[in-house]
Amino acid sequence: MKRRMQDAGQPFAFTKENAQALEAARAKYPDGRDKSAVMEALHLVQGQEGWVSREAIEVVAGLLHMTPLQVWEVASFYTMYNLAPKGKHHLQVCTTTPCWLRGSDAVLATCEAKAAHYGPDVFQVCEVECLGGCVNAPLVQINNDVYEDLDAASTAALLDALAAGKEPPFKDSALRRQGSAPHTPSKEGNHA
Ligand code: FES
Repeated sequence: MKRRMQDAGQPFAFTKENAQALEAARAKYPDGRDKSAVMEALHLVQGQEGWVSREAIEVVAGLLHMTPLQVWEVASFYTMYNLAPKGKHHLQVCTTTPCWLRGSDAVLATCEAKAAHYGPDVFQVCEVECLGGCVNAPLVQINNDVYEDLDAASTAALLDALAAGKEPPFKDSALRRQGSAPHTPSKEGNHA
């Protein structure tokens, strides 16, 4: 799918706190290497606005002595950057081979069904490549949190809770695994 720069329709400015964070990021690099802080700058933009607009790209470019096109090249390369406004919960479903072998088709189908049910203001779904947690596949990243060892039922329960503004029914692993330790089925009837 082609990703395009989108206008927010209003000027962008970093908050005081984020401007200081960007300055701290920039100070980590030698003079003349401001562009090395571009990923952190985009991360700050997204944390502040929820997505990366054309206006924000132009501000970042000015601050880091880059062209807007150079900033755009970075923003559009990584799927972690939202290039359009997102719903409250951005569901990034890993469908790369290890997750696919462990049932990501069912997880993705559940995410899509819940997004259709609750609407785009609540959930937006996209497929992504490996999120680096294959050992606890399949998994979904929701905003800044990762939920692992999912199946259709645990995904549905998770998304229903989030849509209702409740605490997630589990953190990290749906199987309550500790890290990547072997799963020991419990009386709770967790799936294998
Ligand atoms: S394949 Fe899904 S996390 Fe690696």
